[in-house]
Amino acid sequence: QTLLRSRIVHFRDDIAGPPDSALEYFEDGVIGFADGHITLLDDARRAAKQGLDLSTAEHRPDALISCGFIDAHVHAPQLAVMGSYGEKLLDWLQKYTFPAELRFADEEISRQNADFFIDALLAHGTTSAMVFTTSFAHSTEHLFEAAQRAGMRLIAGKVLMDCNAPDALLDTPERALRESAALIEKWHGRGRLGYAVTPRFAGTSSRAQLTVAGQLLRNYPDLWLQTHLSENRDEIAWTATLFPEASDYLNIYERYGLHGERSVYAHCIHLTASEQQRLTDAGAAVAFCPSSNLFLGSGLLELQQLRERGIPVALATDVGAGTGLCQLQSMGEAYKVCQLQDYALGAAEAFYMATLGAARALHLERYIGNLAPGKEADLLLLNGSRVPLLRERLRHCRNIREELFAYMSMGDERIIERAYVSGVAIGKSARPGYRQSSD
Ligand code: GUN
Ligand code: FE
Repeated sequence: QTLLRSRIVHFRDDIAGPPDSALEYFEDGVIGFADGHITLLDDARRAAKQGLDLSTAEHRPDALISCGFIDAHVHAPQLAVMGSYGEKLLDWLQKYTFPAELRFADEEISRQNADFFIDALLAHGTTSAMVFTTSFAHSTEHLFEAAQRAGMRLIAGKVLMDCNAPDALLDTPERALRESAALIEKWHGRGRLGYAVTPRFAGTSSRAQLTVAGQLLRNYPDLWLQTHLSENRDEIAWTATLFPEASDYLNIYERYGLHGERSVYAHCIHLTASEQQRLTDAGAAVAFCPSSNLFLGSGLLELQQLRERGIPVALATDVGAGTGLCQLQSMGEAYKVCQLQDYALGAAEAFYMATLGAARALHLERYIGNLAPGKEADLLLLNGSRVPLLRERLRHCRNIREELFAYMSMGDERIIERAYVSGVAIGKSARPGYRQSSD
């Protein structure tokens, strides 16, 4: 087994209550893993007293080991539109995003992007993600292949869209059914991979296609549903004209059975009280995309309200509307979104939304989300001293919460010295642009 002796932080999953009370920190901890799973997590001296031989452990008292980050909503084909100027959601889609996704008709572009995207996630410390591809089935195929090569736990789905976008991006209800079914049969539950039925949003699917999406969810057990909900005011108004029979935005998805415990709705900024309550009742989860929501000027998620209603909230980058893949920076943006609503988001809650909280929201907590023995060995070696300003700030931190808050406020992927996926240190096989430095 591999042994690392370091400072270690994670969330215990046997403690109910707010994230802050489940935060567990080892000033001098030891973690062991073998065959892709965590075998040991303990205080180093206690473990040594009980007979553990620490002489083979890599000793890194300067570093901090964390669980790998989970990104609950991200678009693999949108790296090229990050930082696109001047538009809000609907024009941003037409002007930048649909043209970018059209390029994925080319299988070579699609394949190269999939490899680059997976390497980029890992370089940013994101060891699991729930991902949109494009409406081209091969782009989902390529992403699953790349994730499988990396050994990552990843959920993805082919985007379903059959109206209100360029013709070449549109499928049909029949094609959506056939291609999704083939991808599900091949990939869902294979190794660490899972499939999410992925209607882009109500605005780009006909009633017939939403019916197909509901059919898929009924026909196959344990699929996820991922889509967008209530992101932008113009989007909401436009969607209401498309589905006048629905009582509100969420009701469109409800009408087609696109809501339940394994549903993950991105954004959810402008929900009514009734919609929030129905998310609670359905057990559905929300992907909180602060970087995207600020960048597109979409609005401020009411995190406290969603929490009070018991809705699971997972943190997400929503690249390419989000401006980066770094979940530390998502946490920092989340803090600012909450500050604007007079809520001081704590570091424990922020890290929770990107680790154990996200795993729970995605029903993956049996496998990932913390460092408990038995979990899959997805972990990060964080080293704040790699960012000079942060190193300076860290000298004045008095405890782990202050340290984590400094990481999320001032940190970026430079502090991720190493990531382990299923117990394998990644970096050496990564593409040059993302090769981890080997110091
Ligand atoms: N709504 C529908 N499609 C998209 C997308 O690609 N990004 C975002 N942020 N919102 C969407
Ligand atoms: Fe999105």
